Amino acid sequence: MVELSLVMVKPHAFDSKKLGIIVSMLEQNDFKIVGLKSIKLTTEMARRFYFVHEGKEFFERLIKYMSSDTIAAICVQKDNCVADLRKLVGATDPTKAKVGTIRRTVGETVEANGVHASDCIENAKKEIRFFFSDLELFSFQYLDY
Ligand code: CMP
Repeated sequence: MVELSLVMVKPHAFDSKKLGIIVSMLEQNDFKIVGLKSIKLTTEMARRFYFVHEGKEFFERLIKYMSSDTIAAICVQKDNCVADLRKLVGATDPTKAKVGTIRRTVGETVEANGVHASDCIENAKKEIRFFFSDLELFSFQYLDY
């Protein structure tokens, strides 16, 4: 089934010009880029995006980091997109991610791990809507929400 998912390129990866490598890895693995933008999150936006982690030990650090500099939001499309993207992105800790995964390639630490990827279809829908309107997604017909 064709699905959409959301990749967020984190500040250090964007700043160190890893956006091209990440887009290239996505394309080489058959993910179609259907939306892409770069923005700087406010702390309030970062809190809203990561609200499920509120209260965790690392939450305030994560919010400060994610609102510290420019990020890129990428909406991708593929059959079995959400699960396949998680596989390509790899483990949260880049040192534990498999060779060939995005986090192993561009990640530095658990916090600065290169990219965020939606963890399930329900959250992918919410995260895509957080960043994109229909007009900004050429495959918006796949969004039945
Ligand atoms: P991400 O996929 O963006 O989702 C939540 C983020 O919190 C996660 O990637 C990590 O970057 C970060 N994170 C998770 N666990 C920790 C931790 N123990 N310490 C610092 N950051 C963490």
